[in-house]
Amino acid sequence: TPFPVEILTLFPDFFDGPLRISLTGKAIERGHFSVNCVDIRDFTHDKHRTCDDVPYGGGAGMVMKPEPLVAALESARERHPGVPRILMSPQGEPFSQKIARELAQGPGMILVCGRYEGVDERVRQHWIDREISIGDYVLTGGEVASMVVIDAVTRLLPGVLGNQESISEESFSAPMLEYPQYTRPREFRGFEVPEILLSGDHGRVAKWRQEQALARTKERRPDLLERRDASPDSQSES
Ligand code: ADE
Repeated sequence: TPFPVEILTLFPDFFDGPLRISLTGKAIERGHFSVNCVDIRDFTHDKHRTCDDVPYGGGAGMVMKPEPLVAALESARERHPGVPRILMSPQGEPFSQKIARELAQGPGMILVCGRYEGVDERVRQHWIDREISIGDYVLTGGEVASMVVIDAVTRLLPGVLGNQESISEESFSAPMLEYPQYTRPREFRGFEVPEILLSGDHGRVAKWRQEQALARTKERRPDLLERRDASPDSQSES
């Protein structure tokens, strides 16, 4: 496919479910991108298929061994030359819509899901192109984080979103929260839809939505408004 996603993991079963469903599932079926899970354990040679070892210098936890991980990386790279190798870890650069847009430019992604206390530093330095964190909290491994990245990136691929769920208004407009949305019925358990949305006056509706979005952003995410003119790139950010 035009956009291969290779996932290197110790838990390939993780990826059987969620990605095959809904929008991402349809995008895979339609060939907008492909997902291939590589079980890092398949690149071991010992009886116990060992992928971790104790840290040099001592300390708690285990570290992912370099040999199987690098063999898995080389195999993925051979099949997909030039595709960036991305390590999921809390030490990475914070994931953002901007990074999602960069990655969606292609040519694909090789995602490494770290487990244990991390991967051997030499692997990170010499076989990884980019390290990404999805936020300042610690997950049990990179699997869930890689799914977040796959979801955010692949919905930006050409043709994945229909006109229905178009991205033009959201990702490329100013960095703001969305305005509140309503659908039928007009009255639900005594609560009414704002009158203005029923008015049919597109100008007034647009103005109201803008005001609502701004008020919400001021209230919940003032940092987004401060960031607005700080860097040229956050200008086009949601
Ligand atoms: N692995 C564990 N925690 C993570 C995080 N916050 N982001 C990316 N990968 C992770």
